Amino acid sequence: MENEIRQQIDALRSDILSALAAAPDAAALEEVRLKYFSKNGLIAPVMEKVGSAPKELRPVLGRLVNEFKATVNPAFEERKNAFAAAAETAGIDATLPGRPVPVGSLHPIYAARDRAIGIFRRLGFALADGPDIETEHYNFDALNTPKDHPARNEGDTFYLADRALRHGLSKDDASAAKEGRLLLRTQTSPVQIRVLEQLAASGKQPPVRIVAPGRCYRRDEIDATHGIAFHQMEGLVVDEGVSLADLKGTLELFFRELLGEDLKFRFRPHFFPFTEPSFEVDASRPGNQVKGREWLEICGCGMVHPKVLANAGIDPERYTGFAFGFGIERIAMMVHQVNDLRLFGENDVRLLSQLSPKV
Ligand code: DAH
Repeated sequence: MENEIRQQIDALRSDILSALAAAPDAAALEEVRLKYFSKNGLIAPVMEKVGSAPKELRPVLGRLVNEFKATVNPAFEERKNAFAAAAETAGIDATLPGRPVPVGSLHPIYAARDRAIGIFRRLGFALADGPDIETEHYNFDALNTPKDHPARNEGDTFYLADRALRHGLSKDDASAAKEGRLLLRTQTSPVQIRVLEQLAASGKQPPVRIVAPGRCYRRDEIDATHGIAFHQMEGLVVDEGVSLADLKGTLELFFRELLGEDLKFRFRPHFFPFTEPSFEVDASRPGNQVKGREWLEICGCGMVHPKVLANAGIDPERYTGFAFGFGIERIAMMVHQVNDLRLFGENDVRLLSQLSPKV
């Protein structure tokens, strides 16, 4: 009996191993499983025989069965795994497009700034900048702003209490007194003074032709066209014989290039302490209304006040200049037809991804 069972088990093992080796695919493997391994398969009756064999044969037969299982079960699993892996590889379609990976892009405010810089560069302007933390001297006094000008109010300007921040701005107490209190600059115009002072200090003379983009701060009421932290771009041209015609020509060329040929302008007389005469530029474009108004103020400008030139050490008898400053948020509003600048600050990627050029 022992021999008979041993032979049956051996025969079964070699049948199963050759059937497994011969199975060409998963379907054939399934047939092998049903034929041998299932409840009604060919292994079951042999196991039954072992189960009903006389007690004294059980240890020997048990060992045979264990050896048998240790051979055929792993052989079956191996084939099964091989077919599964093959099926997975076969499922890859190399012609499918890749999954998109979201890529960040420049914020619309900075994209607008960079476009503006690009246009001015082509017109021969250089880049300049100055600190966000300024002094009363640069932000107001040197720009010919009267001591009682309303913009100096604590209700309009952020003043800083920390004298430690003065570090690097002035060397000693005397110049600190001259420079006045520290504040967050309310405009980029102080860069005009810094640029002209540096020029005079390095023994050079005009021509000067710069633009200075940067962040500005005001204690304003926040609404669709005002923020408390915003961006401006300052422009300054100083040379012999610079005229109002140069100012108008430069700004019209710039804004048309930036915002389109169909842009309409008007130069409205205005007042700024650091220019004389001074103007505000309003722009209008068909279909682009903010707060229901046709005209949007986009720029302040004028001929540099002789006192400003003199304050910075430039001879106003010999040189004249023009200056301008505009809000970059307002420009971005026109570029993107967005009618509320607060949207730019919310950092909602659904909006930003529609407005930003992909880089
Ligand atoms: N600094 C002014 C402002 O923030 C804008 C401005 C007006 C700048 C006239 C200028 C200028 O350079 O000439 O409202």
